[in-house]
Amino acid sequence: MALSSTIWRLNLLSKPSVSHIQTTLRALKPFKPKLRPMCSLPISSSLNSSNFSTSKNPTFLEPQTRTPYPQDDLIVLGIETSCDDTAAAVVKSNGEILSQVVSSQADLLAQYGGVAPKMAEEAHLQVIDQVVKEALDKANLTEKDLSAIAVTIGPGLSLCLRVGVRKARKIAGSFNLPIIGVHHMEAHALVARLTERELQFPFMALLISGGHNVLILARDLGHYIQLGTTIDDAIGEAYDKIAKWLGLDLRRSGGPALEALAREGDAKSIKFSTPMKQHKDCNFSYAGLKTQVRLAIESKNINATIPVSSASSEDRRSRADIAASFQRVAVLHLEERCERAIEWALKIEPSVKHMVVSGGVASNQYVRAQLDQVVKKNNLQLVCPPPSLCTDNGVMVAWAGIENFCMGRFDPPPPADEPEDIEFDLRPRWPLGEEYAEGRSEARSMRTARIHPSLTSLVQASLQQQL
Ligand code: KG4
Ligand code: ZN
Repeated sequence: MALSSTIWRLNLLSKPSVSHIQTTLRALKPFKPKLRPMCSLPISSSLNSSNFSTSKNPTFLEPQTRTPYPQDDLIVLGIETSCDDTAAAVVKSNGEILSQVVSSQADLLAQYGGVAPKMAEEAHLQVIDQVVKEALDKANLTEKDLSAIAVTIGPGLSLCLRVGVRKARKIAGSFNLPIIGVHHMEAHALVARLTERELQFPFMALLISGGHNVLILARDLGHYIQLGTTIDDAIGEAYDKIAKWLGLDLRRSGGPALEALAREGDAKSIKFSTPMKQHKDCNFSYAGLKTQVRLAIESKNINATIPVSSASSEDRRSRADIAASFQRVAVLHLEERCERAIEWALKIEPSVKHMVVSGGVASNQYVRAQLDQVVKKNNLQLVCPPPSLCTDNGVMVAWAGIENFCMGRFDPPPPADEPEDIEFDLRPRWPLGEEYAEGRSEARSMRTARIHPSLTSLVQASLQQQL
C-alpha cells in the first residue's frame, strides 16, 4: 500500500513517521467508499484527488483514487460552525435537500454587539448534538444511511470550527464514513450550482458576508482567481456595526434591520463618499465609510441606547435617512467593483456567463436589485441563491462536500476511538484563490502571518503531483 496523500506530499502538515502510520493503519477498519452509479452533477472534467483533511495527523488507508467518484445517490450530512450559527443539513447528490436546521446565536450577538469567540464556542457546544440530530430526524434518516460527512474547516474562528469538526469526526469514526473538509467561502459560491443547475464553470462570484468580501473568477471546481478582497472590513460587518449605532433590533443580525429601516429613508439625503475611488482595482474598503456614518450619527445626536422603536418620528426619520444613504453608497461600492471585475474576468475567461452573488448580505433585496442591473448591462446573468441559502447554512456545506467528493477529494473515516484531544487541521485564515496579479493593491495591508496556502494552490499542486 502506498503511503501517500496529497497533503502529505504538499508538505503542508508535519510528515507523520512511517512507523506511526503503520501502527495507525493496523488499528483502522478497512474502508471502501460505497460506489454507486455515475451521477448527473455538473462536474468539471479534470481528474484529480486532493484531501482537505480534518485531522492534523491524517491517516490514509489507500491511495486516493484518480477517478472522480461521481455518484447519483450520495447522501451527505453537512455541518457548519465557522462563526455564530450552528447549522446542519442533509442533501442528496441529485440536489434534493432532505433537511436543514440552523440554530442562530443572534440573541448573543444582540447582547454583546459582536461575536465573542469563547461565547460562540460555548453556544455551539450547547446545541451541536441537537442540531445534527434534528437534521437527521427531519430527513428521516440515521447515520447509517449517510454516504459521507462534510464539515467546514475554515476560514472562521478556530474555537468554533473545532466544535463542528469534532462532531463530524465523531460520527464519521463511529459509522465508518468518509469525511470532506469544506472551505466556507467555496461553499457559499457552490451552493448556487445547487439552486441553478445550469450554472457551469467558469463563472464569477461576489461573496459578501460578515467576515468576507471577495470577488472571484471560478474557473473550475477548486480553481479560483481572487480578483478582489477587502482591505479592512467586510460589508456585513459595516451593516452590523451601523445597525448597532442606529439603535436597531439586532436579534436577527444588523443587516436585515438596517435594510428594513433604509426603506423608510431618503438615500440621497446624506452625501457619503464612495470608498476607494482612486484605486482602479477590485478591492473593497468599508472602514472609512463606517467612520463617515459614525460622524453623521454623532452630528444628528442620535442616541443608540434609545431603540429606534421608541424614537420620536423626527429621530426615526433621520436614522432612516442615514441607513438609506449608507446602504446606497455601500452597495454602489459593490457595483463599481463588480463592473471592473467583469471586465477583468472576461479578459481571462471570455465564456463567463454568470455572476453569483452569495453570502449573508446577498439576501438583501436592494443589493440584489442593484447588482442585477450591473450584471445585465454587461450581458451576464445574476444567480442569487434564496436568502436561507445565502446566510450560513448546512446545505451549502453538504453540497460543497458532494461536489468535492465526486472529484475524489475526501479523507477516509477517522478511527472510531480517536482521542478527544487530537489536534484538528483547522484553517482560520484560508484564502480561496490566488490573487490576480493585475489586481494587487498598494492599499492592501499584507497581513500574511498564519495565512494558510489557498485552496486553489493546494488543488493545483495536487494536480501537478499526479501528472
Ligand atoms: O454569510 P453569513 O451568514 O455569515 C458569515 O459568513 O459572516 O453573513 C452574515 C452577515 C451579517 O453581517 C449580516 O448582518 C449580513 O450577513 N446580512 C445582511 C442581510 N442579511 C444578513 N446584510 C444586509 N442585508 C441583509 N438583508
Ligand atoms: Zn458565511
